[in-house]
Amino acid sequence: MTREKPKNLWLSRWGFILAATGSAVGLGNIWKFPYITGEYGGGAFVLMYLACILAIGIPVMMTEIALGRRGRGSPLDAVARVAREGGAHPLWRGVGLMAMVAGFMILCFYVVAASWAFAYTWKMLDGSLAATSVEALGGVFEAHNANPWQLGGWSLLVALLTLFIVAKGVQKGIERSVSWMMPGLAVMLLILVGYAYSSGSFSAGVDFLFTFDASKITGEALLAALGHAFFTLSLASGAILIYGSYLPDGQSVARTTFVVAIADTLVALLAGLAIFPIIFANGLSPSAGPGLIFMSLPLAFQQMPFGTFFGVLFFAMVSIAALTSAISLVEATVAYLNEKHGISRAKAATGAGVVLLLISLLAMLSFNVMAGWTPGGKNLFDWLDYLTSRWMMPLGGIGMVILAGYCLRSEVMRDELNLPPLGYALWLFMVRYVSPVLIGIVFLHALGWLGFDPIAKWYWIAGAIGVLAVAGELLAPRVRQELARG
Ligand code: PFF
Repeated sequence: MTREKPKNLWLSRWGFILAATGSAVGLGNIWKFPYITGEYGGGAFVLMYLACILAIGIPVMMTEIALGRRGRGSPLDAVARVAREGGAHPLWRGVGLMAMVAGFMILCFYVVAASWAFAYTWKMLDGSLAATSVEALGGVFEAHNANPWQLGGWSLLVALLTLFIVAKGVQKGIERSVSWMMPGLAVMLLILVGYAYSSGSFSAGVDFLFTFDASKITGEALLAALGHAFFTLSLASGAILIYGSYLPDGQSVARTTFVVAIADTLVALLAGLAIFPIIFANGLSPSAGPGLIFMSLPLAFQQMPFGTFFGVLFFAMVSIAALTSAISLVEATVAYLNEKHGISRAKAATGAGVVLLLISLLAMLSFNVMAGWTPGGKNLFDWLDYLTSRWMMPLGGIGMVILAGYCLRSEVMRDELNLPPLGYALWLFMVRYVSPVLIGIVFLHALGWLGFDPIAKWYWIAGAIGVLAVAGELLAPRVRQELARG
């Protein structure tokens, strides 16, 4: 069967890597990773998170990029095409559709969270963060959210910037903007880490992030680490798939995946190394929760020399990181409207923007006017987060690895990944056994259907032996075959 011709391709060799890293590096790395590490107790959490990136994040990302490039289109169309080519049931396209919908839902609350970073860059300058305690800064944050015009205005700014860049196209909009935003972000981060290094409590920060305390390994922490691995690598939300669809044929899926995953992990760790020393140097608590960067950090900045400068630098960095992620969240929808319905990118971005603003308006109002409206115990902001990260991302991730690992004719993925025999066997092993089993556990636990604590040691040991035995049995002939081919 003839393969779909790409309509868009990244211009430079770095196009995909910068755009995908821009998608992956975002609020998840600089806002969420430090505070959940703080909540779950430091080094042990970091280790579990790294294990999840390796065991699930990397195989799923490779699969997603390969599906995107093979199908050359929006997530819905790309998955449908690959399923057709590989002889899988047409209903598999549902996985692509769900990823697109999940991406759009994430976008609806992500612009609101991103708007906090934009607003705080400004607040660092205009003196409104001049409070003298974490509680008082908590009050500033609440007051900001209580004012729908303020929250709405900043969110509108983020949405307009995002849509403007996406409307300009893959090369002239996305690639051009990430090619200066990402290096800029790296420089800002290094300056901040350098500053934290000289601030006196650097070793306390390092100890916190890297001292391993086995008693902190709990089922809850492992589940948080697993969920975060999905979110931080932008998996199963259409973003990586659509960016993969613009990847030129000659570039290695595995190599690009490793570069993006390593860059994303490095940024999370460096953000921790920039934030925790500053928190410790000022005698604040590392486990302040979601308010860590909006309540504790501004207080620390105030107490330091050149604090305003570094505060502005910090929040500007978070804003850029969030913007490049928001761009990736809208691209799949715009590409879909453009490709499927022939709507120009500018019109598609406008249409997507209208729907985005309507839904995110409700997410914004859930902090103020509609704060009392909490069907099922959650406001709309929390519902969007919960539905996507607890249900749609794990389901989409499992769907993709099962489609690629079991349902497609094997030459499709082998051809697209183009790995040496052992590498291919390893990928196959991960997507057939390791990733689905682990994602399945998170998923079931999230649903409250797991009656046991998934961290109890002997479950894991028995489970691992079982998986290895089955896998060995099933894969051995295949590996031999692959090696013989190679
Ligand atoms: N990876 C982004 C972050 O860590 O902030 C969030 C995200 C972006 C999730 C794009 C999903 C996505 F498709």
